[in-house]
Amino acid sequence: MRLAIADPPYPPLYSERFDAAGGESRIVSRSRSLRWYGDGSRGHKDPAPADFHPEASKWDDLGAHRQLMLDLIDKYDGWAIATTPDGLGAYGALPVSARIMSWVRPNGMPGGGRLISRWEPVIVFVPEARRARSTGMLVSDVLVAAAPRIGFAGAKPPEWTRWVLDALGYAPGADSVTDVFPGSGSVAAAADGMLAFATAEGAS
Ligand SMILES: C[S@@+](CC[C@H](N)C(=O)[O-])C[C@H]1O[C@@H](n2cnc3c(N)ncnc32)[C@H](O)[C@@H]1O
Repeated sequence: MRLAIADPPYPPLYSERFDAAGGESRIVSRSRSLRWYGDGSRGHKDPAPADFHPEASKWDDLGAHRQLMLDLIDKYDGWAIATTPDGLGAYGALPVSARIMSWVRPNGMPGGGRLISRWEPVIVFVPEARRARSTGMLVSDVLVAAAPRIGFAGAKPPEWTRWVLDALGYAPGADSVTDVFPGSGSVAAAADGMLAFATAEGAS
């Protein structure tokens, strides 16, 4: 089957401010895509951007996220999209059979707010033939795994990729896996590792 993992720059961060004259609230947004993958503004404590993509700002458009999901529905049997809790809304109504899994990152760093962000959702669309309990190993919809500190914002740990591919019922050697946003290459590397392991197991 054709599987895809999409880990795009996350949608903008919206917040409510009360600093306007008269104390009225206003909604402001901050581009995550330009902060981490473009030439956008960064706080003086922010690390250097992970990498540079000339069209990173495309992902400030919520419609681009919706279109990404529609493209995945069109082209793949099963897929997953990584996003933020506040970014889920950008995808709009999900297919009825989609699920939201939760990656818990115990080492998530405090931001500017009082609540520390320690989880990220993954929208998962398991191929129809692999949804029943009888079709394969059971997979929890929660993963607890530390976010890697490799100097690449948004990089996923290998456990994350194995968890997502297990949820999709990945059959190494029989399925293809497209890493739509390679970034540091960690997702593709973990998928390759699963294939190599399965191949070695088969040979022994
Ligand atoms: C969240 S990161 C992917 C991280 C990756 N999964 C990993 O584990 O390292 C998103 C990637 O999308 C790239 N990107 C930004 N804008 C893009 C665009 N318009 N088209 C394709 N890729 C883009 C960024 O440069 C970055 O490498």
